[in-house]
Amino acid sequence: MNKPTHSAFADTAEEAIAAQDAAAERDFADGMTSEMATEVAMQNTLLTPRFYTTDFEEMDAIDVTPVREDWDKLIAQMKSDPNRGHFKKNDDWQVDWEGMEPALRKEFIDFLISSCTAEFSGCVLYKEMKRRGSNDDITTLFQLMARDEARHAGFINDTLREAGIRVNLGFLTQKKKYTYFRPKFIYYATYLSEKIGYARYITIFRHLEEHPDKRFHPIFKWFREWCNDEFSHGEAFALLIKTDPKLTSGVNKLWIKFFLTAVYSTMWVRDHQRPVFHDALGVDVTWYGQEVFRKTSEITKQVYPFTLDIDHPRWLKNLNKMEEASRQIAAAKARGGIEGGVARAGGMAKAAFYFVSTLLIPSIPNEVPESPRMEPAY
Ligand SMILES: [Fe+2]
Ligand SMILES: [Fe+2]
Repeated sequence: MNKPTHSAFADTAEEAIAAQDAAAERDFADGMTSEMATEVAMQNTLLTPRFYTTDFEEMDAIDVTPVREDWDKLIAQMKSDPNRGHFKKNDDWQVDWEGMEPALRKEFIDFLISSCTAEFSGCVLYKEMKRRGSNDDITTLFQLMARDEARHAGFINDTLREAGIRVNLGFLTQKKKYTYFRPKFIYYATYLSEKIGYARYITIFRHLEEHPDKRFHPIFKWFREWCNDEFSHGEAFALLIKTDPKLTSGVNKLWIKFFLTAVYSTMWVRDHQRPVFHDALGVDVTWYGQEVFRKTSEITKQVYPFTLDIDHPRWLKNLNKMEEASRQIAAAKARGGIEGGVARAGGMAKAAFYFVSTLLIPSIPNEVPESPRMEPAY
């Protein structure tokens, strides 16, 4: 069989990565290096995307019988592969990297590297589950999701390559530190990151439909099909969560609340670090954050027995305090020495205080429907 020459046409994650590596070799022959981007992607802080590993045996043992009907429909839809060939430049692709304001260029590149790492993080986890598993339902799903994420990461890498930068995916797979999460934490965190990913991409896409003059780079035109992939991935995790009622009851409700609060506040802090990027898009970053939370909360009603109260008087105040603390921590880190160390500890205590205070905001109960299945509606 002929190997696809572009990751957009790859049927598996392995093929997509091989296509990206081949492109990188061609770049290398042209004298291009990319140490810097990989270095940024290698960072492990509370705010940067991580790589995960888990108990693959336990995940392989999931029985999807309770959700069989919905499951088969979803898998059939993913197998039909509506986005094959989509994640590739076409004649619409016109970029002016040279003419981009340096400050915008810097934040946009940071956004792309972080997105690429996040996409690839999903790919690595899903690919590993596929490799280790023997349960047909599970391995089929994870191979399809790994395929999509590899295409997404490949496409962002193509974009970065035009600016003379590239994240070395093979190197990352081998060298980046992996964080262990029990399977149930993988479900909570991954379900949420897929759904919030959908909400983020579609919110930007719809905004730029209304304000095409703000579309400073063509990649945003690809966001609709892109977020539909993420939506499907989220659906798959919703079904996995639905196979076991214990996952959404008892003490696990506290874990769900913890992950919701952690994912929302991380996104808030990270987005506020890119004011020039959001300015260029004509997006008010506070509006954007709340809008993404609102959509995500609405979607998560499919499986979670409550949502966070994002209109509570303490909500925005606390998020802003956490953001303030994160800036203090960064400044203290840059200062160094004993004084910097003390200031840093102070910043961390402040962030922790406001995180716990946010966690203590009463949640809004929700009646979960019998079948979780949803279609992307935004
Ligand atoms: Fe993705
Ligand atoms: Fe995804």
